[in-house]
Amino acid sequence: MCGIIGYIGQKKISPILINGLKKLEYRGYDSAGICVLENGGLTIIKKTGRIEELAKSPELKNVNGAIGIAHTRWATHGEPNEQNAHPHLDCEQKIAIVHNGIIENYQALRELLIKEGHKISSETDSEVLAHLIEKFYKGDLLKAVKETLALVDGAYGMAVIHKDQDKIVVARKGSPLIIGVGEGEMFVASDVPAILEHTKKVIYLNDDEIAVIGQNDYQITNLAGEKLDNKIEEIKWSVEQMEKKGYKHFMLKEIFEQPESISNTLRGRIKDGKIKLSIDFDIKEIKKIVITACGTSWHSALIGKYLLESIAEISTEVDYASEFRYRQPIVTKNDLAIVISQSGETADTLAALREAKQRGAKSLGIINVVGSTISREVDSGIYLHAGPEIGVASTKAFTSQVVALLLLTLYIRQEKGIALDKELLEDLADIPEKIDQALHRAEEVKEIAQKFKDIKNFLYLGRGLNFPVALEGALKLKEISYIHAEGYPAAEIKHGPIALIDENMPVVFIATKNSLSEKIISNMEEVKARQGVVIALVSDSDERIEKIADYIIKVPEVRNELSAIVNSIPLQLLAYYIADLRGLDVDKPRNLAKSVTVE
Ligand code: AGP
Repeated sequence: MCGIIGYIGQKKISPILINGLKKLEYRGYDSAGICVLENGGLTIIKKTGRIEELAKSPELKNVNGAIGIAHTRWATHGEPNEQNAHPHLDCEQKIAIVHNGIIENYQALRELLIKEGHKISSETDSEVLAHLIEKFYKGDLLKAVKETLALVDGAYGMAVIHKDQDKIVVARKGSPLIIGVGEGEMFVASDVPAILEHTKKVIYLNDDEIAVIGQNDYQITNLAGEKLDNKIEEIKWSVEQMEKKGYKHFMLKEIFEQPESISNTLRGRIKDGKIKLSIDFDIKEIKKIVITACGTSWHSALIGKYLLESIAEISTEVDYASEFRYRQPIVTKNDLAIVISQSGETADTLAALREAKQRGAKSLGIINVVGSTISREVDSGIYLHAGPEIGVASTKAFTSQVVALLLLTLYIRQEKGIALDKELLEDLADIPEKIDQALHRAEEVKEIAQKFKDIKNFLYLGRGLNFPVALEGALKLKEISYIHAEGYPAAEIKHGPIALIDENMPVVFIATKNSLSEKIISNMEEVKARQGVVIALVSDSDERIEKIADYIIKVPEVRNELSAIVNSIPLQLLAYYIADLRGLDVDKPRNLAKSVTVE
C-alpha cells in the first residue's frame, strides 16, 4: 500500500501535503515526496525514510503553488530510495504522477517506452505511467491519462498534474481514491484521514472511474467518457478512527484485511494454469531445502515443510534461525535456504541467512518489507505485498507467507515437470472468498472469547498441517493476552500433556476435515474422558464433532493444502477478542517489538 494526497486551492500547499502524508503513514513509510506546480514548472522534493525526513527538507519553506501532489511509499518494485520515491516525472519534466498499486505489465510497457526513446530512471513499475501519459499528451491531460490506462494491467490509485494545466487528474482501479470537496479548494487522497482536518465532504471513486479536479469543481467519468454523479458523503469518524478504518485496533483491521492482502500476494502469480514467480536460479537443481525463521514466521515455515514435501516432493528441514546460526548446519551448494521474515530485519534470521550462504546454499527470501536488509541479501525472493503490518502480533503477513510458500511449492513442482492440479490452482485463487466467510463468523468467536477470557492456561492441538496452526494459535494468544498457551501435535498429548487436563485447562482442537479426522476425534474423546473442556474448529459440514466438543467454531471447508490459511483466521480472532476483553494493549503488547533487530 502507499499513500497519496493532492491539493488544488489558495492555501500554503506544503503543510497540507506533508500533514496529509503523515496521516497516511500507516499505508507506507519507506520514502516520500511532493511535487508542486509553481513558476511555470514543477518543483519536486523526494526523501528516503519516514515522512519526517521530507518534512525537514529546507527546500520546503520556499515552495509556493496552488496545485500539488504527494506520496508516501510502501515499496513493491525497487528499493526504498530517492530515485524510486514518488512523484515520478516524464522525460521533459512537465508531468508528475503519484501511484498506489501494482502495474502487472510494467516490464513490457517499460521496454516499449525505452524503444521509443524514453529515459526511465527508476526501478519502479509506477514511473511508466508518467512516460505513457507524455507519449499520449497532445494538450488534453484527461485524454492522455485514459489512453495510458487502456494499456495498463493491474491496480492503480493515481494522481497526475501537468505544468501547463490548472487541474489534477485522478483515476482508480483496485486501489482506493477519494475526492475531498472544500470551499474554494479541492483535495484527492488514498484515504480520508489525509484530508479530514480540511473537509468532511468526500466522494469515493469506484474502479474504472477517472476524475478531473479543478479548484472549484470536479468531473467524474468512467473510462468510456460517460459523466457520473457520485454522491458526496459526510464523514462522521475522527481521524484516529479513520486510520484504523473504524476498527478498534490495527491488529483487528489487519485480520479483516486478509482477503485483500492475500489477493495482493496472489496478484499476477497464477496465469493460464501456470505459476509465475521470478526466481533467479534453476530451482529444479535443488536437492534439499532448509527453511529458517523466527516466531510466527517459523510457524509458516513448518507449514511450508508439509507442503514442499507432499507437493513438490523435495526434502525440507525447518529450524529456528537462532539455533540454525550456531549449530554448524549441514548445508551445501545443492541446497536452498529459504528465509521467512515479515520485517526483513530480524537479527537471528539475517545471521542464519548469512550462515547458509557462507556454506554455499542458494537463498530465497519470503518477505513483506521491500528493500529490507534480508531482501537485499538473498539471491532471490517472493514479496508478500501484504501492505504494512502495524500490529505487533503478525496476522495478515502470516497467511500471506503460507500463500507464498504454496506458490513456491507449486512453482517447484511445475519446474520439475510434474503436472499441477488445476483444481488446486482454482481453489487457491478463490481462497480470499473463503477467508471472507471465516471472518463473517467473528461474532461466534467473540462469544467464546467472553467465556474464556479469565482462563490461565490453554492447550492447542492439531495434526498434519493443523499442527503448526495450533502452534501459531497458541502464540497469538500468549503474545497479546499474556495467557499461557501451548501448541502440540494432537497425538502427543498421551506422552505427557494429558496429565494437565482438567476443567481449568481448555483445549482448542483444530479439527477440520482431513485424512486424520478420525484420529483427532479419538484425541478429543481422550480429553473429554478427563473432564477436559473442548473448543473445536470444525468444517462446516461436520456434525460428529458437535456431539463431542463443548464449543464449536465452524470454518469454511477447503482442501487440505489450503486449510492452514483458513483455520488460522478464527484463532487470530479468538486471541484478539480475549486480549481486548482483558483490556490489554493489543497493538503494542508488553515486552514485544514488531521487529527483533537484536540477538
Ligand atoms: C509474531 O506475532 C511475532 N510478532 C513474532 O513472533 C514475529 O513473527 C517474529 O519476531 C519474526 O519476525 P519477522 O517475521 O519480521 O522476521
